[in-house]
Amino acid sequence: HPLIVAPPASLRKPLRVPNKLLLGPGPANLSSRVILAGTHQVIGPLQDEMYKIMDDIKDGIRYAFQTQNTLTLALSGSGHTAMEVSVLNLVEPGESVLVGVNGIWGERIVDMAERIGAKVHQMVKVPGEYYTLQEVEKGLTQHKPVVFFLTHGESSTGILQPLDGYGDLCHRHDCLLVVDSVASLGGAPIYMDKQGIDVLYSGSQKVLNSPPGISLISFSEKARSKIFNRKTKPLSFVLDMKLLANYWGCDNNPRVYHHTIPIISLFALRESLALLADEGLEKSWKKHQEATEYLHRELQKLGLQLFVKEPKARLPTVTTVAVPQGYNWKNITTYLWKKHDIEIVGGLGPSAGLVLRIGLLGCNATKASVDRVILALKDALRHCPKSKL
Ligand code: GLV
Repeated sequence: HPLIVAPPASLRKPLRVPNKLLLGPGPANLSSRVILAGTHQVIGPLQDEMYKIMDDIKDGIRYAFQTQNTLTLALSGSGHTAMEVSVLNLVEPGESVLVGVNGIWGERIVDMAERIGAKVHQMVKVPGEYYTLQEVEKGLTQHKPVVFFLTHGESSTGILQPLDGYGDLCHRHDCLLVVDSVASLGGAPIYMDKQGIDVLYSGSQKVLNSPPGISLISFSEKARSKIFNRKTKPLSFVLDMKLLANYWGCDNNPRVYHHTIPIISLFALRESLALLADEGLEKSWKKHQEATEYLHRELQKLGLQLFVKEPKARLPTVTTVAVPQGYNWKNITTYLWKKHDIEIVGGLGPSAGLVLRIGLLGCNATKASVDRVILALKDALRHCPKSKL
């Protein structure tokens, strides 16, 4: 047969990727050691050398999460994959779940849990607020959920959720605690075991400065036991935690092929975790706190309003700033991208149209990044048209 589609002319041109400073909520720029890791030749997913790299990654995740859980691994897919893995594996159809919905991440968990036929209860808050222990206790008593979902770093609103005491509280109510730390891991303290978190997940593309497309996850013994004693198989084969646990060497059985993992991205993740271990978690937390507080002071000097009013509730990784009055947020983000080679973004979900979001993640959490974005914002406020809203 003659071919009906010719080789595309577009592909004869060289690949063009602009070089930008990524100060959105992620992906953040890759650190140079991570870029180098991505230039290695690929190896097969069933070779001992690959298993060793996967084991190194598991050690790195345990350090970053501060956990000793055996069932700790990386997933092929960004943070959304980890969200879906938690829901699909932990919850059986008809079970009651409770979700803290104070931004887009809670909204998405609700959508995922509804898809599998869970009884979903939402605790809805206006964007920019977090949950107190008293509020959570009320929800647990009222709805008797088997799982409670909470977001540590709410990147759509800029909120940092406190975590001390929530695990014990959930356990007193026979409920498992799942925490999303995609936007906070490495930037704000988190102690999985001490805080009694049953499932914790994060992403590769934020503080870890790794390519997007991988997530990290760990399960407590209670969570593992719920998954391994399910009455029904989870609806997805690819995201079945029992199969993944085996392939990642987290059960006591010989490893069996499950799916082909993103080998090169895992090399990169291994190096990101090594960098975090070299730097030390406490130093990394302090670096983010200091850089972000400096950003907040400089934004306020420009006359801009921080979206989260309570200083201790502000996420030390992603900052939300109210869109300056009279401006269209899109004009500002486009101006920074085109004229200053800096990415910042607008709001997301419930914060869409309300805020600009600036992320200082990993190697980007520096005073120099803040100085650059503040200079660019000053320039944007002078040059972007004021619209009549
Ligand atoms: C993605 O994680 C975002 O916060 O935009």
